[in-house]
Amino acid sequence: MTATPFESLVTIFGGSGFLGRHAVRALAKRGYRIRVAVRRPELANHLQPLGQVGQIHAVQANLRDAASVEAAARDADVVINLVGILFERGRQRFDAVHAFGAEAVALAASAFGARLIHVSAIGADERSSSLYARSKAKGERLALAASPSAVVVRPSILFGPEDDFFNRFASMACFSPAVPLIGGGHTRFQPVFAGDVAAAIVCAMEGRARAGEVYELGGPEVKSFKELMQFVLATIERRRLLIPIPFALGKLQASVLQWMPKPLLTPDQVELLRSDNVVSEQAGREGRTLAALGIDPLAMESVVPSYLWRFRKAGQFSRQMTEDR
Ligand SMILES: NC(=O)c1ccc[n+]([C@@H]2O[C@H](COP(=O)([O-])OP(=O)(O)OC[C@H]3O[C@@H](n4cnc5c(N)ncnc54)[C@H](OP(=O)(O)O)[C@@H]3O)[C@@H](O)[C@H]2O)c1
Repeated sequence: MTATPFESLVTIFGGSGFLGRHAVRALAKRGYRIRVAVRRPELANHLQPLGQVGQIHAVQANLRDAASVEAAARDADVVINLVGILFERGRQRFDAVHAFGAEAVALAASAFGARLIHVSAIGADERSSSLYARSKAKGERLALAASPSAVVVRPSILFGPEDDFFNRFASMACFSPAVPLIGGGHTRFQPVFAGDVAAAIVCAMEGRARAGEVYELGGPEVKSFKELMQFVLATIERRRLLIPIPFALGKLQASVLQWMPKPLLTPDQVELLRSDNVVSEQAGREGRTLAALGIDPLAMESVVPSYLWRFRKAGQFSRQMTEDR
């Protein structure tokens, strides 16, 4: 990009979400003009304090409506797509959002000559038994076909104060006497700080990542699901039974839980647990990682306790914290 950040307009689809908050903060700090494109701009007001007056502007766009996507991308120098869903509801289908929605964003970016950064997920695979993983892979393929110079980033599970993973299991452990370990809890993850992924997005949009490549982003440690649950329980100072259950039973549970307004688990998420969610050796060898972008990722131990303390019985006044002082 030849223009200075101050002169550059970045349209960020899904900017009101969890990763969006970190990405908008990183962009605002560097002085970019930011257009946040979401279905409900009135729910993006929390982003305003991250920038100067007038620096961040929210507009209405739905990835399932190509005209609204095009309007939101108009005149942008960079387009970032962070839109993703964890379960299907109504017209929010995986294919419509992750695959054809991603294509609509890439076509719009290409039409306006904007650089595209597309956020996918580790595990994206058109042969996966999970619809989520298949739709993410299809989205990568369609996005790169429409915008061949795009950079794709695939994070492992994200952590940060508003994350869905650690907060969800810590909350579950507060009211449930046991935490199920689907498939024995052997699935491996490489949790990565949302702020580090936001930094990688900034690197990519400023031309410090290779165009047309897929980067795999993971944190400094690989942990099994069981180890992650042990970490959560130790952090919130609660003892709970960790009960290994076979995938088939997990799927049965998920077939009921999926009907909750915000499901704790869906059968498709059980399918995702069949594969490890870690940076591949090939990505490491080919320099498609955080390290290759010059980013030294934060460990979950240095961030997660700073927001999970609220799930302790005595909150911030817990024994461990007072003893630490
Ligand atoms: N969180 C993780 O652990 C994780 C791990 C790997 C990959 N990822 C990927 O990282 C990206 C960001 O994830 P996140 O955790 O920040 O998700 P999130 O908090 O759920 O945010 C999703 C965003 O997408 C918007 N959105 C949803 N449907 C839309 C549609 N049809 N049209 C336009 N906008 C729509 C939402 O805003 P409105 O609902 O207001 O429109 C929201 O701003 C996603 O692509 C996700 O798959 C996340």
